[in-house]
Amino acid sequence: MGKKKYCRGSIGSTFARCGEDKKEFPSPKIPATKDKTGNKKDAHIEVCLKYNVETSVKSGFETIRLLSDFPDFSFEEISTEAGFLSKKIAMPLIISPLTGGGKLSQRINDILSEAAEALNIGMAVGSQKLMLDNAVPADSFLVRHSAPSIPLLSNLGIIHVRKGKEYLLRAVESIQADGIILYVNPVQEVLQDSGEKDFTGILAGLEEILDTFPYPVFLKEVGFGLSEKLLSWAGRNKIRGVDVAGLGGTNWAKIECLISGADYELYETLGIKTTEAIIASRKYLTEDRYLIASGGIRTGLDIAKALAMGADIVSMGLPFLKWASESVERVTSEVRRLQEQLKIAMWFTGSKDVNALRNKFQRES
Ligand SMILES: Cc1cc2nc3c(=O)[nH]c(=O)nc-3n(C[C@H](O)[C@H](O)[C@H](O)COP(=O)(O)O)c2cc1C
Repeated sequence: MGKKKYCRGSIGSTFARCGEDKKEFPSPKIPATKDKTGNKKDAHIEVCLKYNVETSVKSGFETIRLLSDFPDFSFEEISTEAGFLSKKIAMPLIISPLTGGGKLSQRINDILSEAAEALNIGMAVGSQKLMLDNAVPADSFLVRHSAPSIPLLSNLGIIHVRKGKEYLLRAVESIQADGIILYVNPVQEVLQDSGEKDFTGILAGLEEILDTFPYPVFLKEVGFGLSEKLLSWAGRNKIRGVDVAGLGGTNWAKIECLISGADYELYETLGIKTTEAIIASRKYLTEDRYLIASGGIRTGLDIAKALAMGADIVSMGLPFLKWASESVERVTSEVRRLQEQLKIAMWFTGSKDVNALRNKFQRES
């Protein structure tokens, strides 16, 4: 398949740019509809690009202070490199699972994968359910050709565990991924018109699959934060790592509200703040498990704080979506800006490498 390039110009002229002109909720609510394949992804993307879909609750990083130390080395010596799934990446950053399936998704994933390879950071694709069910073409998920060397993760819902081990295997192998992220989204499901409202037996089913599954499996929330009970379950089972996806960033109660026109704004305060979820995770996960921090991470200082608090890697969703709606160059320049901010935080804390950041923080009372 030919490699496409989207270097100049934005995907939609009406979309708000990062940090600019974010519209609050429209009135009356705008309905975003599925396309003829039943795929809502492109509609979700349009809503996320056009409106303010972040919760008003803060992620908690504003209450975290980095502790300063004397940097007995040169700024140039600072290395942001990190290891992830036996690969070395330029900084501990992964593009959160976002998309795949529709036309707009294709362009977004093309841009993200090209940028991720150029930057040498990790990437996940969005939910592959419709692809595996042959409801949408696979092309937009097949990003390996433009990102041959990065850690790549496939994505399904924990609910899809019901479809069995082969289904999960197909998700990973069809896109030559290094592992799979299973998203855990009970709040999002219950707020959707045709969402899944029965999670009975899912964990027992996953436990069985994990025994013999040959690829690393990660659990992830979608912005409400993984609960302590689930973190404890992950710690006792063969889960390779978790992505906390805490409260403080993109909020699916808000998004579902925009899509269905129902009054879900009330639920945007449900959840565990990202910082709380990071602290809780390290209680249950030993150091050999990956702790990925996400949910409202927006600056290099947030990244440094998450690493200081015990995360190995961070992931970001909405910012990547917005940058990728413009160009590969926008994605690469924004990530380089994040890396520079992270380096300044490392300089401030006297940390020559990312591991040295660990524990260099204080919580404001
Ligand atoms: C448009 C959009 C689509 C998303 N689709 C998925 C998905 O398919 N699978 C998933 O695990 N998470 C999905 N997410 C959730 C993100 O991976 C991430 O957990 C969430 O956006 C919180 O991170 P943020 O505050 O940095 O955006 C999606 C988010 C957005 C904005």
